[in-house]
Order: sequence, then structure tokens, then C-alpha cells
Amino acid sequence: MKILVTGGLGYIGSHVTTLLLEKSVDVISVDNLENSRIEVLDGIKEITGKQPIFKQLDIRDENALKNLFKDHTDIDGVIHFAAYKAVGESVKQPLRYYHNNIVGLLNLLNSIAKIGIPLIFSSSCTVYGQADKLPIKESASILPAASPYGYSKQVGEQFVKDTCKAHKNFNAILLRYFNPIGAHPSVKIGEQPQGVPQNLVPFLTQTAIGKHPVLKIFGSDYDTPDGTCIRDYIHVMDLAEAHINSLEYLISSKNTSKCETFNVGTGKGVSVLEVIQTFEKVSGKKVPYQFTEPRDGDTVAAFADVEMIEQKIGWKAKYTLEEALKNAWDWEKNH
Ligand code: NAD
Ligand code: UD1
Repeated sequence: MKILVTGGLGYIGSHVTTLLLEKSVDVISVDNLENSRIEVLDGIKEITGKQPIFKQLDIRDENALKNLFKDHTDIDGVIHFAAYKAVGESVKQPLRYYHNNIVGLLNLLNSIAKIGIPLIFSSSCTVYGQADKLPIKESASILPAASPYGYSKQVGEQFVKDTCKAHKNFNAILLRYFNPIGAHPSVKIGEQPQGVPQNLVPFLTQTAIGKHPVLKIFGSDYDTPDGTCIRDYIHVMDLAEAHINSLEYLISSKNTSKCETFNVGTGKGVSVLEVIQTFEKVSGKKVPYQFTEPRDGDTVAAFADVEMIEQKIGWKAKYTLEEALKNAWDWEKNH
């Protein structure tokens, strides 16, 4: 089997690539290196003893993408990660975000839909906004997006669905990730945020190592047991495994409804304070923190209903929060 992974040297793409290579799947990895480094290939090689075929390519370049499919006529499936992902940045630079996240996806769909190469699309729990029922089911309403990033995921989902309807042989899976954290247990690959991280766990590990004096907790008075926001933090290795199972499901044509959507989370809601306490336990480090005003656009609580992915795809998260935070901490110390 040969799989094309776009954004293959990024955080999630690199972890998925290791699992594919370990399963003896051939991987063509494309990335424009805008948010990743070529050295990630060395990490992948150290872990698996193998390397993907790598092409530095921008998926906004339609001709380059077409040529890739001309050169590789035996691609069995595509996992599409290449996109911009910083919510705050997307508010400041909406057109840049729409151009990359939308044009890239359109080019890809143009190359694969007619020839029926199946697709896994990276979506996000951000499409739900503040759901009124927890845990969140895939059937929950999609609320108006709080950011251009979120809107690019909602639109992207619709493009994929419409393309599935229009092309008889084209099937796809939309995976809505909750909050990916952690690193490969070997800590040879992990998350490499550019600049000051906006997400909780990289900011927490950077504070623990001394890069920031204090971790700000956004809000202390939410309607939750300890007053801080609740999220569903999923180990990136579990998330990667969910792609492998989804690919098997997709390629064995079990997805008879052509385009299916699955949440990928642990199903457990954890508060910001619980994340900090768990981190302190596994790292043995005290993390200085202070409560500040809530962050604009934050939802109070979001965690996944994972019944559908368990039943249909046979996937369930295995790693604990302790393991995820330990790997995140080891990664921070290691790189
Ligand atoms: P990442 O930035 O680490 O990886 C994306 C990779 O795509 C990067 O290596 C980047 O260089 C590359 N890329 C971007 N635009 C490209 C283009 N036009 N052509 C070729 N390569 C390009 O991000 P990630 O965390 O691995 O996220 C992967 C996907 O999952 C994204 O689509 C993201 O929106 C989605 N997602 C991520 C999260 C998260 O918290 N990490 C949550 C939900 C959804
Ligand atoms: C963010 C993105 C979402 C993306 C997700 C996973 C927003 C609005 N949403 O979600 O699109 O899918 O990341 O990558 O940005 N927190 C602090 N202090 C910090 C950082 C975060 O208290 O310094 C809190 C936040 O208020 C939140 C929790 O930690 O309650 C998690 O925050 P974060 O890691 O940024 O993820 P989300 O906001 O859930």
C-alpha cells in the first residue's frame, strides 16, 4: 500500500508517518517546510529504520501536485494535514489562512476525486463551538465559526462531503480532533511550536523549563467543578493510531455512506488545573501559575463522545493523561 501524507513533517503528520512505515506501508510525504523542519525525517528514520519518499512541495501549486500524481500512479489513499492552524493568527490574517487551507484542499480534491483515491481530512472540534450537550456527539450542531481557522475547517468538511456526493468512486473520512498533546515516546519527534505557544501544554512545559516566568490560567470562575475550562486531551500517538484504523476502514470500503465523520478524543474532560497538577506529579516540577481573565473565544467545556469511532472503526484511546504529559515533558527537555 502507498499513502500520500500532506504536511507529513508537521506535528501530527510525522507521528502518523512513523506508524504507517512500521506497518510496512510506503509513504510519500509532502511538506513545504513552512511550519516544520527537514530534520524531522531523521527522527522518523531513527524510530522506524525507514524513510518516506519526501518531496518539498506546496500544495497550493496545482501543477506540482498534478505532477506528483503523474509520477506516482499507485497511490492508494491520502491523509491531508497540510494547513495553517493557529487560531489567533487566522483572525489577523484571514486571507492567508483561507488561501492555504482552502486552495490547498481544492487542489488536492481536483487531483484525487475523479480517480477515486480515498481521503482522510483533518478537522477539529472547533467546528462545534460551545456545544449545549456533553459529551459532544458528531451529530451536534455546527455553530458559526469563532475564527477564520475554524471556518476553514467547516468549509473544508463541506467541500469533501460535496465531492463525495458528486464522484461515485470517491470516499472520505472527516476526523474531528479534540486537543492533541504529547510526543512520540522515543521523544525523537514531537511538537515544535513557532514563537510563543498559544496552546496549554507546550506553554506549560516551556514554563516548567524556565522559558516563561508564569503560566496564565485563562479564567477561574467558569461553571465547572474547579472553575477552569475543561478539554479532552488526546495523546498524539493515539490520534495517529486513529488514522491507521480509519485508513483500513476506508480502504476496505466499509464506509458505505461515502463520507463519514468521527470525533477523535479520549471521551474524558479534564480541567486546566487538573492538567497542571498531573504535570507536576509526573515531572516533579512545580509550575508557577496565576489566574487571569478568560481568553476571548474560549469555550467552557468540550469533550468527545467516542462511541461512534469505537463501534465503527474499532479505535479507542489507550494512553493516559500522565503518559501524554510525561512524553510532552521529556520532549521539551530533549529538544
Ligand atoms: P503542523 O503545522 O505541525 O503541520 C502541518 C504541516 O503542513 C507543517 O509541516 C507545514 O509546514 C505543512 N504545510 C502547511 N501548508 C502547506 C502547504 N500549502 N503545502 C505543503 N505543506 C504545508 O500542524 P499539526 O498540528 O500537525 O496539524 C495537522 C492538521 O491537523 C492541520 O490541518 C490542523 O488544522 C489539524 N488540526 C490540528 C490540531 C492541533 O491541535 N494540532 C487540532 C485539530 C486539527
Ligand atoms: C485550541 C483551538 C482549537 C484547536 C485546539 C487544539 C482556540 C480558540 N481553539 O483549542 O481550534 O483545535 O487548540 O490544538 O484557540 N489555557 C490557559 N493558559 C494558556 C493556554 C491555554 O489557561 O496559556 C487554557 C485555555 O483557556 C483552554 C485550555 O487551556 O481552556 C486549552 O487551551 P488550548 O491548548 O489553547 O486549546 P483550545 O483552546 O481547546
